[in-house]
Amino acid sequence: MEYKVGVIAGDGIGPEIVAEARKVLDRVGEKCGHIFSYTEILMGGCSIDACGEPLTQEAIAAAKAQDAVLMGSIGGDAKTSPWYKLPPEKRPEAGLLGIRKALNLFANLRPAYLYPELRAACPLRDEIIGDGFDMLIMRELTGGLYFGERKTETVDGKVKATDTLVYSEDEIRRIAIKGFDIARKRRKIVTSVDKANVLDSSRLWRKIVEEVAKDYPDVTLSHMLVDNCAMQLVKDPKQFDVILTENMFGDILSDEASMVTGSIGMLSSASLNETKFGLYEPSGGSAPDIAGKGIANPIATILSAAMMLRYSFDLDQEADAVESAVKQVLKDGFRTIDIFPQKGEDASGIKQVGTKEMGDAIAERI
Ligand code: IPM
Ligand code: MG
Repeated sequence: MEYKVGVIAGDGIGPEIVAEARKVLDRVGEKCGHIFSYTEILMGGCSIDACGEPLTQEAIAAAKAQDAVLMGSIGGDAKTSPWYKLPPEKRPEAGLLGIRKALNLFANLRPAYLYPELRAACPLRDEIIGDGFDMLIMRELTGGLYFGERKTETVDGKVKATDTLVYSEDEIRRIAIKGFDIARKRRKIVTSVDKANVLDSSRLWRKIVEEVAKDYPDVTLSHMLVDNCAMQLVKDPKQFDVILTENMFGDILSDEASMVTGSIGMLSSASLNETKFGLYEPSGGSAPDIAGKGIANPIATILSAAMMLRYSFDLDQEADAVESAVKQVLKDGFRTIDIFPQKGEDASGIKQVGTKEMGDAIAERI
């Protein structure tokens, strides 16, 4: 079968890591008799340079015409890049927020898994790590503070800025359903994270999540305040299976969860709407400091392509094959610099490789 894949390579290390994910997809195609046809789409800083804005209507239309979109990363160095002299709504990040909204990608899945081979990269103590951990953050992506009304005004001679955190019950219900559905395929535990001791939007969140939970008697639900969750993630990450939370809390907690796995270069993500369509991207940023050096870790992007196979194309076996190939390269000792053992750690049997060699090694193992 033929699958139409939009490719937003983006800025910084984006083009390098996306090239490796395409390499792996092509290998899957060859092995399993699928055709992945790619359409390049501009977004972020490169779109500002080419078209004067981070996301054009043509780019949105092109993305909509695909079965799924694979993305690298967008943005540059905020201190030095001219993109950050532009007003906020013209900067690269506005392209990302714009495409999320335009394609209604309200469900953001961010798995955080500790590979046994990368245990040494985990900053937590051995007794906390135990047998490792495997959680998934289900982040609401098109509501809350990110998309509520905002303004900066001068009141009585003083500048005042306002952001608004808004959620409707429908927005909460649809993300809660996604959270419970995915928990059913995992360990059947949902931790819903909010700030219900302070915020009205969180009190509504809790009420609606409890209503949805009634349809999932096989899934265990608990509620946790976001500040406590930040603490529990480093105190006892094993307790979590699915963390269900609103946009801003999910943004913060997912970075924290990625850090406890040791490298953000390993973490994939999927942003989905009500259909099979999804946007798949690594959790990490554009890392302008190492762009073009051929040393970036392509694994997060390759694992994002695996999520695309699973969620948008229903190719579970192919997705399993990509994930196993990643595990195998780690077993075989391949490491990009971000996951290479630190000074003083055992590096026997470990070889440092660049972006391309890592992509080749994974493709070969499919
Ligand atoms: C993320 C990023 C984005 C976000 C930025 C780049 C706008 O941090 O995907 O987590 O805040 O959602
Ligand atoms: Mg973030």
